[in-house]
Amino acid sequence: MEEEHSIRMDPCSSGKDKPQADQLEFGRKFTDHMFLMDYTGEKGWHAPRIVPYEPLTVDPSAMVFHYGQSVFEGMKAYLTPDGDAQLFRPERNFQRMNHSNNRLCIPSIDETFALKAVKQLIALEKDWIPKAEGTSLYIRPFIISTEPYLGVAPSRHYKFIIILSPVGAYYKEGINPIKIAVENEYVRTVTGGTGEAKTGGNYAASLKAQEVAEEGIAQVLWLDGVERKYIEEVGSMNVFFKINGTVITPALNGSILEGVTRNSVIQLLKQWHVPIEERKISMEEVYQAHKNGSLEEAFGAGTAAVISPIGELVQAGDHLEINDGKTGAIAKRLYDTLTGIQYGKIQDPFGWVE
Ligand code: COI
Repeated sequence: MEEEHSIRMDPCSSGKDKPQADQLEFGRKFTDHMFLMDYTGEKGWHAPRIVPYEPLTVDPSAMVFHYGQSVFEGMKAYLTPDGDAQLFRPERNFQRMNHSNNRLCIPSIDETFALKAVKQLIALEKDWIPKAEGTSLYIRPFIISTEPYLGVAPSRHYKFIIILSPVGAYYKEGINPIKIAVENEYVRTVTGGTGEAKTGGNYAASLKAQEVAEEGIAQVLWLDGVERKYIEEVGSMNVFFKINGTVITPALNGSILEGVTRNSVIQLLKQWHVPIEERKISMEEVYQAHKNGSLEEAFGAGTAAVISPIGELVQAGDHLEINDGKTGAIAKRLYDTLTGIQYGKIQDPFGWVE
């Protein structure tokens, strides 16, 4: 079994130039190698290999191009002060990938093996992990359906690929507060849809709202697709509001992505005895809290976004400034603690890093 699962190594002879730390954008540059594995009905997942990063040859009739049967994940490798590469709760990403696979009728992967593949790829690409503060090596595992067939059915062939990208901050604002628009016309998904799966179609469906949002808006805040009342998520991150001393985040309802950072924030707040509630929260409640002065902070949490303070919410032409547009104390403490653990600068009491 282990032999079948050993990863063939085909390293490239010469590498690309690495980007300067001050030129790092999110997801524009890629490392020298990638991991690949194929699936067919007869062989299951097979032929795991690490090969030079290069364009794929995929049939134009491959099902992923037509019906979008695909899933992806996002995680990061961090460089510790001792020069070691560290991952943050990677097993949760592969658990979630299998959850997404199930929703998209994609065969599940062996989570332990996928973690081994990431570690082997990171070991080879360790020099690509950027050193500057706030930078990391973003890891993008994804699966595409590759069977050449135009019938609407689950594909019988897939590719599981892992690529790596040295990154800086996700938002151009860096760690400064961002401006978010509440989306009243379009919806991202509904309960029973694919919202809690990490699949490309969810993100394609979100683009229109972003395109029509006013200048300076970093992202849109999605409301539930039925009543258009309750807050769901931002799309690239989960959201939290601090109202009158209590932090509130929308409860998982089948249409919200179960973020690894979201879960870590909840655990940290519990450890700090900060009241935290996972429940339905309406935009009206946030609006009223803003009006009566009890809305103390708002922030997003995600792998790419880390902790992103929200300085302003735009709701149907109204501009709600939060905490004078500044980073709040809880967002700052969460950012410092999470990144401290991720970069190995503070002790990890949860056993999150490996
Ligand atoms: C991540 O935080 O890793 C994500 O997958 C969000 C992404 C759409 C940038």
